Amino acid sequence: MTQQIPAGRHDPQVTSKSVLITGASSGLGRQMAIEFSRRGYRLALTARRLDLLQALQAELAANGAALVCVAALDVTDEVALAQVFAQARAQLGSLDIVVANAGIGHHGTIGKLPFERVRDTINTNVIGFMATVDAAMHHFKEQGHGHLVGISSVAAFRGMPFGGVYGASKAAVTTYLQSLRAETHNSPIVVTTLSPGFIDTPINRGAKSRPFVIGVERGGKLLVDLIERQVAHATVPRWPWSVVARLMAVLPTSVIAKLR
Ligand SMILES: NC(=O)c1ccc[n+]([C@@H]2O[C@H](COP(=O)([O-])OP(=O)(O)OC[C@H]3O[C@@H](n4cnc5c(N)ncnc54)[C@H](OP(=O)(O)O)[C@@H]3O)[C@@H](O)[C@H]2O)c1
Repeated sequence: MTQQIPAGRHDPQVTSKSVLITGASSGLGRQMAIEFSRRGYRLALTARRLDLLQALQAELAANGAALVCVAALDVTDEVALAQVFAQARAQLGSLDIVVANAGIGHHGTIGKLPFERVRDTINTNVIGFMATVDAAMHHFKEQGHGHLVGISSVAAFRGMPFGGVYGASKAAVTTYLQSLRAETHNSPIVVTTLSPGFIDTPINRGAKSRPFVIGVERGGKLLVDLIERQVAHATVPRWPWSVVARLMAVLPTSVIAKLR
C-alpha cells in the first residue's frame, strides 16, 4: 500500500480507530473516506482505480488527514485481498472497521441482460463481498476484535422488475451478514448491515427514476453516523425507506409488476 503520513500527526497505536474501505475510488466509498477522515480515523482505501485513490489520498492529506494508505484491489481476487489486508493492518496498526462496500449495479430483463453482466454482478457483489468478509474475519479473530460493515441495498427487500440480479446479490449480502451476526453474537466482533435507498452516485445516474434520492455528502454522513453507532441493520436514510422497504416486501406481484 502506498502511504502518506503528514508530519507530526501520526502514531498508529494511540490515535483513532482504523477503517479499511473497499470501493473507495467513487461514490459512497469515497464519501465515507472523506467523512471518516474528517472524524480523525486512520484509513486504508482500496479499489481497482489506483489513480483515483491517490488523488483522494492527496486531497485528504491537504485537509489534515491522520493517515491514509491506498492500494489497488479487485475484491474478486482472493489472493490480492489477503495481501492488501495484511499490509493495511501492518501499516495502520490494526483493522478496527472493514467496510465491504465495493459493488456494481447492472439492471435489465432476465433472459435479455447479457449473462456476462449477470456473472460480473454476482462475482463482485456476492463472491467479492464474501471474500472481503473472510479476509476481515481472519484479522478480527487474530486481533481479538473488529467491526464488519456490509453495504447492502433496499433492493434486497423485494425482487423488482429489471433488478433481478442486483436485488438477488444484495439479498445475499443481507442474509450472509445475518448469519455472521448470529455467529459472532456476544463476542468482540460487531456486524452492521446498511441498506441505502437512492444516494446520488455514478451507480444510479442512468436510472429513469430515483425515488427519495439524497445527495452523496448527506449519504456519507448518515452511513458513518450509523457505523459509529454500531447499528445491526438500518436503511439509509432511515426515513422513508424503513417503511417503504417493508411495504415493498409485502405488496402483491400485480402492484410490483407496474413499478419500474
Ligand atoms: N448509491 C446508491 O444509491 C446505492 C444504493 C444501495 C446500495 N449501494 C451500494 O453501495 C456500494 C457503493 O456504490 P456507489 O453508489 O458508491 O457506486 P459507485 O460510485 O459506482 O462506486 C462503486 C465502487 O465499487 C468499486 N468496485 C466495483 N467493482 C469492484 C471490484 N471488482 N473490486 C473492487 N472495487 C470495485 C468501484 O471502484 P473501481 O471501479 O475503482 O474498482 C467504486 O469505487 C455498492 O455496493 C452499491 O451496490 C449504492
